[in-house]
Amino acid sequence: MSPASERAPAKVNLYLHVTGRRPDGYHELDSLVVFAGAGDVLHHTAAPDLSLALCGGEAEALAAEPDNLVLRAARLLAGAAGVPARGALRLEKHLPVASGIGGGSADAAAALRLLNRCWGLRWPEERLLPLAAQLGADVPVCLSGRAARMSGIGEVLAPAPVLPSAGLVLANPRRPLSTPAVFRARGMVGFSAPAALPAGWGDAATMARDLGTCGNDLEPPALRLCPEVGMVLTALRAAPNCLLARMSGSGATCFGLFPDAATAATVAAGLPAAWWRWGGGFTAGVSSLYSAAEPAGA
Ligand code: C5P
Repeated sequence: MSPASERAPAKVNLYLHVTGRRPDGYHELDSLVVFAGAGDVLHHTAAPDLSLALCGGEAEALAAEPDNLVLRAARLLAGAAGVPARGALRLEKHLPVASGIGGGSADAAAALRLLNRCWGLRWPEERLLPLAAQLGADVPVCLSGRAARMSGIGEVLAPAPVLPSAGLVLANPRRPLSTPAVFRARGMVGFSAPAALPAGWGDAATMARDLGTCGNDLEPPALRLCPEVGMVLTALRAAPNCLLARMSGSGATCFGLFPDAATAATVAAGLPAAWWRWGGGFTAGVSSLYSAAEPAGA
């Protein structure tokens, strides 16, 4: 990867509890967020004006959006730093849009990291975090790219428990889901308590057993809006050696947790290719789970 590129890895919510609702309508969450090897890539070339070109198999869905989060991130950083917003950006879009794995948030976070370097600002992560929070609830966690326990509306980050190595299959039924629509469909049901987690797990099976007692509170409303989520979960749960299968974020992408990446790859090969070979061939949906000590972008 050239110095003028940044990876934008997919985030996965291993569980997601909705713990409250603020007066402004945002929901308070408790979630364990990890990162996958799969992701978008953002490139920068020096240019007098700011521009963004899209490429990659999932670019078409994004082209329709009038104000891409990458450009918003660039303008926000330029304004905060008092520098001109310039540079030709190119986004390789591999992650499905509106799919619960934070593609747009990861892209915005990558833009902050990349332009911080390319514009010679050298701001530490703490100084970029408030800008990330302005861009979206998932952008702060994506800024570090490290596994984290997320609370508040997404802006309060604490270190994740020590994670075991594990394999992940990310499977998406190819139906975009709008995050506000899923929160709305959740309706007026009660709230969950934050999860009680140990300091760490030595192996994936133990982690899956503990996380099995948690849930994703957005899964029931997402299932009502997109019944295909149920097909994906059923297929993952039926796969040999599946330790845990659950939806990520507001969906519709689901993850299957397996003892290792090789097992995950074998399982993915038995699923419909469209679910995990995103962008017409890119094998984005299979990877390892990255631990707190090993940023996914490294
Ligand atoms: O912050 P972001 O733009 O990603 O959020 C999209 C929408 O998802 C919000 O407008 C809100 O409806 C919902 N949301 C929420 N609580 C959160 C995060 C998002 O209600 N913690």
